[in-house]
Amino acid sequence: MKFHVVTYGCQMNVRDSEAVSALLMRQGYERAEGEADAEIIVVNTCSVRGKAEAKALGKLGLLVADSRRNHPDRVIGVMGCMVQRLGAELFKKVPGLGFGVGTHAFSRLPLVLQEVFEGKMPVLDVAEDDAPEALTGHIEGALSAFVNILLGCDRRCTYCIVPYVRGREWSRPVDRVVDEVRELTTKGVCEVTLLGQSVMNYGRRNEVWPEGSTSPGGYETPFPRLLEAVDAIEGLERVRFTSGHPSGCTTELTRAMAELPSVCEHLHLPLQSGSDPILEQMRRGYTADQFRQAARALQAAVPGVALSTDIIVGFPGETAEDFERTRAFMDEIGFDNAFIFKYSPRSGTPAAEWPDDVPDEEKMRRNKVLLEDQTRRVEAINAALVGQRVNVLVEGPSLRNAARWSGRTRTNKVVVFDPVPGVERGGCVDVDVERVTATTLYGTIEGSRLNI
Ligand code: 5AD
Ligand code: SF4
Repeated sequence: MKFHVVTYGCQMNVRDSEAVSALLMRQGYERAEGEADAEIIVVNTCSVRGKAEAKALGKLGLLVADSRRNHPDRVIGVMGCMVQRLGAELFKKVPGLGFGVGTHAFSRLPLVLQEVFEGKMPVLDVAEDDAPEALTGHIEGALSAFVNILLGCDRRCTYCIVPYVRGREWSRPVDRVVDEVRELTTKGVCEVTLLGQSVMNYGRRNEVWPEGSTSPGGYETPFPRLLEAVDAIEGLERVRFTSGHPSGCTTELTRAMAELPSVCEHLHLPLQSGSDPILEQMRRGYTADQFRQAARALQAAVPGVALSTDIIVGFPGETAEDFERTRAFMDEIGFDNAFIFKYSPRSGTPAAEWPDDVPDEEKMRRNKVLLEDQTRRVEAINAALVGQRVNVLVEGPSLRNAARWSGRTRTNKVVVFDPVPGVERGGCVDVDVERVTATTLYGTIEGSRLNI
C-alpha cells in the first residue's frame, strides 16, 4: 500500500515526516511517487502561526474533497502539532479525515492505520508519554540528516504554542544519539544537524550520560559534551545544531565550537526583539545586552561565525521605538540571515490575552523594512568574502543550471561553481569566491581555472 507525506513547518516537522515514512516502510508500506498515486496521504502540520494552520486546513479540505470524488478508498490523515492542539475538533473542522496522530504518537501510526482499515474512522491518538523516545529511522541516500536530541520545550515564551503542543523537555540519552549518527555515517551521511527547540538545554532536565562516563576534552556541561561525542564519530564531516539561546552560549560552548573540527561556524540564535521591554513581555529570559554578550563571545571565539536569527514584528505593545531598537540591534550584531514573522496570537498562550494592537499594515511594513535591511546587510557580509577561499560540501548539480554544481559553506551559505573531474557529491572542496549576491556565492575550485 502506497503512502505520501505532506510537510508544513519547521525542521522538526521535516524530521518527523522522515521518521514516520521510514517507520511505515519498515512495516511494508511503500512510498508513493506523489499525492496522485498514494492510497494514504498524511499531512504533517504546524501550529506556530495562524497562517500555518490555515494552510494545512486548506490543504486537508482539498485532499478530502478530491478523494471523495476521485479516490473513494484513499485515506487522508493528519499528524503533528495541530492534532495535539485541536484534538477531535480537527475532525469537525475537516469532516472526512481518517485519523489524527499527535506529537507523542508517531510510533503508533501503524496501529492507528490498522484501526482505520478495520473501519473505525476517524481514529485519534493524542496520548502523551512521560519519557518519550524519538523514532530513529531515516530515508537512505541523503548527505545531510536531522537528528533529534531534545524533544519539547520548557521555556514558555509568552507568544509560543510549542510547549503546549510538544510537551515538556526530554533529552535523548547520549548513547542513542551517538548510535543514530554513527549509523547514518555508515550510510553516506556526512553532515548532521542536532535538533531541539532550545537545543543547548540538552541534558538539563533528565540524565543523559551513562554513569562514570567522562569527557576527554574536559567538558562538564551536557551539550558541549554531546558535541564532543558526536564530533568523535568517524566519517562525519560537519555538525550543526539548532536552535540556540543566549543562556547556552557559555565559555564551554564557545570552546567546543572553536575546538571541535566538525562543528560548523554557524548558529541559529533567535533574537525575537532587540528591545528590552518587549523581550521581557515575551519572557525570553535575556536582555538585549545579554544577547550582545553571547553573540560577542561567539564571534570572538569562533572567527567568521555566521549567526542567523528569528524576529517577531508587531508583538503586543511594540512601539515604533521598540521596532527601531530591533533594527539597530540587528545591524550591530550583523546577522547573516534572518527569518522575520508577523506576530500571530495563539490561543492558550499568555500573549493571546493581550490586545493585538499593532495593525496588520504596520506589521507588514515592519516586516518589509527588516527584510530589506537584511538583504543589504548580507550583501555587504558576502561582498567581504570575494577573494577568499571557502570550504564547500558538494551537493551536486545546481537546481537552476545543471552544468554548474552547488554546495554549502560551513557557515551555511550556498556556493555555485563549475565541477571538475574528481569532485563528487559528498566531497569537500575549496572554492575561491569571485562574485556574490545576497543568497549565493559564485566561485572556482581552487586551481581549476588553470585546467579548464
Ligand atoms: N507569532 C509569530 N511568530 C511566532 N514564532 C513563534 N510563535 C510565534 C507567534 N505566535 C516565531 C518565532 C520562532 C519561530 C520558529 O517562529 O520567531 O523563533
Ligand atoms: Fe517557543 Fe520560546 Fe520554546 Fe522557542 S524557546 S519553542 S519560542 S517557547
